[in-house]
Amino acid sequence: MFDVNKIRKQFPIFSGNPLIYFDNAATTQKPMVVLERLQRFYSQENANIHRGIYQLAYEATQEYEQARKKVASFINAKNSDEVVFCGGTTEALNMVAQGWGREQLGPKDEVLVTAMEHHANYVPWQTVCKQTGAHFRVVPVKQDGSLDLDQLNSMLNAKTKVLAITHISNTLGTINPLQEIVELAHKNQVLVVVDAAQSIAFDQVDVQQLDCDFLAFSGHKAFGPMGIGVLYGKMEYLSMLHPFQQGGSMILQVTEQETTFKPPPHGLEAGTPPVAEAIALGTALDFIAETGLGQIKEHGQSTLQYARDQLSSIQGIQIIGPATGTSNILSFLLDDVHPHDIATILGDAGVAVRAGHHCTQPLMHALGIHSTVRVSFSIYNNPDEVDHLVDALGTVKKIMS
Ligand SMILES: Cc1ncc(COP(=O)(O)O)c(C=O)c1O
Repeated sequence: MFDVNKIRKQFPIFSGNPLIYFDNAATTQKPMVVLERLQRFYSQENANIHRGIYQLAYEATQEYEQARKKVASFINAKNSDEVVFCGGTTEALNMVAQGWGREQLGPKDEVLVTAMEHHANYVPWQTVCKQTGAHFRVVPVKQDGSLDLDQLNSMLNAKTKVLAITHISNTLGTINPLQEIVELAHKNQVLVVVDAAQSIAFDQVDVQQLDCDFLAFSGHKAFGPMGIGVLYGKMEYLSMLHPFQQGGSMILQVTEQETTFKPPPHGLEAGTPPVAEAIALGTALDFIAETGLGQIKEHGQSTLQYARDQLSSIQGIQIIGPATGTSNILSFLLDDVHPHDIATILGDAGVAVRAGHHCTQPLMHALGIHSTVRVSFSIYNNPDEVDHLVDALGTVKKIMS
């Protein structure tokens, strides 16, 4: 049985702190096991990896590579060599845009992104199109916040080389029917790059089942540390990535005039990686598996459903998303109060929410709004906290009317 109070006790940030934290789409809080793992590395195991031949260095390397295996198993990659550690989703997507796109795209090609992308899966593609002369095209969203699949279908053509798409919208909570979309793209020989930042700790992300070509996520949105993320790629495409960072650790040989690089994943991990963070990400994924991804999803959905029902009873509320499926993310507006004013008053009432464009300005533009208030739920949230949010929104109405 899923016991929120028991779960909550595993997160030190909540102990003796009346924090109501509804900003999980920005970053999740960290369970004690993850914090302890970080501390254990730095206090007992600290050594650089893939370099030293003494015992401590050997063990640190083993732990780091073990974390890679855990990630591979979590996303069901065929092989752990398809898992590249990097700084986070943003870095992973830039690695693909610059490492693959800059080499492979040209003026005759088209790149598709969706209008609901986070800037991290939008701007790097816009930039690489400017650099290569490729045509940058945006698949529209409907007014209900779902992706326009008919438009996507008609925009895919022989010139399309890549589709960059989010699994779950960080602003609307819209869940895209990825499997169907990947199939459609592949029928047109289009490479699919998935932003799984919001889905990795919410739903099962099975890269073999999805059949996506690249996929990116951040550890810190999955109960892991900041500064660590993952780029997954099918080996045939990872091997095509030009390493956009170069230096120590990733070379085979350097002569005065030439350098040869290691194959993936190590050839794409230049310099000292965030070793402790990678290992603690492995612990975070263990934590998710032990808690049960299905339970996490169900709890997120039921908390969202409860919030949606409660918020709907407030006069003047306008729920902006989600349109399709039920995720753990919900955006809303209240009367004509600016979302920043709402978030400030909620913050004073001890409720942490996010207000703004959520790094999705093209989406805001498409929906004809400039910002929203966003609440996003995780395993430690409960209905009492949602009731508190609703009360605090009553205060917003009183102050701002
Ligand atoms: C959907 C989505 N993509 C990408 C990112 C960027 O993640 P990071 O800042 O960890 O690189 C975020 C962060 O909010 C996100 O929600």
